[in-house]
Amino acid sequence: MPTAVISGSGLWKPQEYVTNEELVIAYNAYAQRYNKENAQAIERGEVAEKPLSSAEFIEKASGIKRRYTYCKEGILDVDRMRPKIPPRADDELSHQAEMAVRAARDAMDAAGKSAADIAMVVVSCAYTQRAYPAIAIEVQQALGIQGFGFDMLVACSAATFALHRAYDAVAAGSADCVLVINPELTTPQVNFTDRDGHFIFGDVSTAAIMERADTCTSVHSYEVLSTQALTQYSNNIRSNFGYLSYAEDAQPFADDKLFRQNGRKVFKEVCPMAAEHLTQQVEKAGVAVSDVKRWWLHQANINMNELIARRLLGRDPEFLEAPIVLDEYANTASAGSMIAFHLYNKDLQPGDLGVICSFGAGYSIGSLVVKKR
Ligand SMILES: CC(C)(COP(=O)(O)OP(=O)(O)OC[C@H]1O[C@@H](n2cnc3c(N)ncnc32)[C@H](O)[C@@H]1OP(=O)(O)O)[C@@H](O)C(=O)NCCC(=O)NCCS
Repeated sequence: MPTAVISGSGLWKPQEYVTNEELVIAYNAYAQRYNKENAQAIERGEVAEKPLSSAEFIEKASGIKRRYTYCKEGILDVDRMRPKIPPRADDELSHQAEMAVRAARDAMDAAGKSAADIAMVVVSCAYTQRAYPAIAIEVQQALGIQGFGFDMLVACSAATFALHRAYDAVAAGSADCVLVINPELTTPQVNFTDRDGHFIFGDVSTAAIMERADTCTSVHSYEVLSTQALTQYSNNIRSNFGYLSYAEDAQPFADDKLFRQNGRKVFKEVCPMAAEHLTQQVEKAGVAVSDVKRWWLHQANINMNELIARRLLGRDPEFLEAPIVLDEYANTASAGSMIAFHLYNKDLQPGDLGVICSFGAGYSIGSLVVKKR
């Protein structure tokens, strides 16, 4: 069976970003106006008053200071409260494919791969902007790649689950070199009028190349020692957006069609699941937790990451043991652990061990134990 390696990673971030302070000013203005307009109904108990948000709370509760936005216009406009993305014609590169292509080129450069080397393209993320044709096939065409491509949706675990598929394909010999891309265009699914969730997400795109070890020429490459995936059904993180709205005569943009969660329950249920999964996963790979040099964890909430790292290590982690990128990027769905990997892997030495791990909606948990070559 061929050895599979991650031979390069890529990252593309938008130029625009929104700080907590900007977000809170817009949200609070919206909430105050809403409360004024609905004062009588609120008084009668028919409508719930909108509580105010605070930048201090956001940073303390999540570790987030700002988030990149693919399109900032509209998000801070109290008359709109959502991005205003100009539509593109069918014969133009779609927004999400453009994000994907940018990160893909970065990963291909890092791995020293051209389009001719790649046999399979997986676009895997929390949302795709349309059902078909697959964004992956559009990306494949834009990059001039032969072979085949497909899209995958696994919410926050989309990147690790796609790397599993890439690993399986390389190991089985069905594709010698796979391009995995996570164009996380999340802000169009954020309810910016919801105090509890308006701060959570940002937009970014990550990519990685998985190939056979014997074709790898990259300076920084990681052998995949083992992969593991786990899912357990939960409604605590949910979006009902989907094509049935048309047939159900449902409002396609109602609150339940956007991201919503029971954050407290997610926190309580997912942290132990993730710590347990990771402990078993490294054991399965024949590695002691104390031998793992770096944990590239999913980035949803700093308190979650610290708790999981503490459960694993039995102490607080040093920054480089479990790097955090939330302050700059916020939660970028599946891209979070890949941003951490991309930014913090080049200092590792041959033989050093690391774990890439995601956890989130589904619930879903995915991980890969890797060794620097
Ligand atoms: C979402 C999350 C950051 C909220 O943090 P939390 O500490 O659980 O906050 P709570 O919702 O319990 O609220 C705590 C208090 O802050 C208040 N609060 C909530 N949002 C606020 C905001 N934006 N601004 C100010 N205060 C806020 C609440 O009203 C509550 O006040 P109370 O104690 O008087 O009732 C946190 O639950 C979380 O990260 N969960 C993990 C799930 C996750 O990140 N999922 C993403 C998808 S993977």
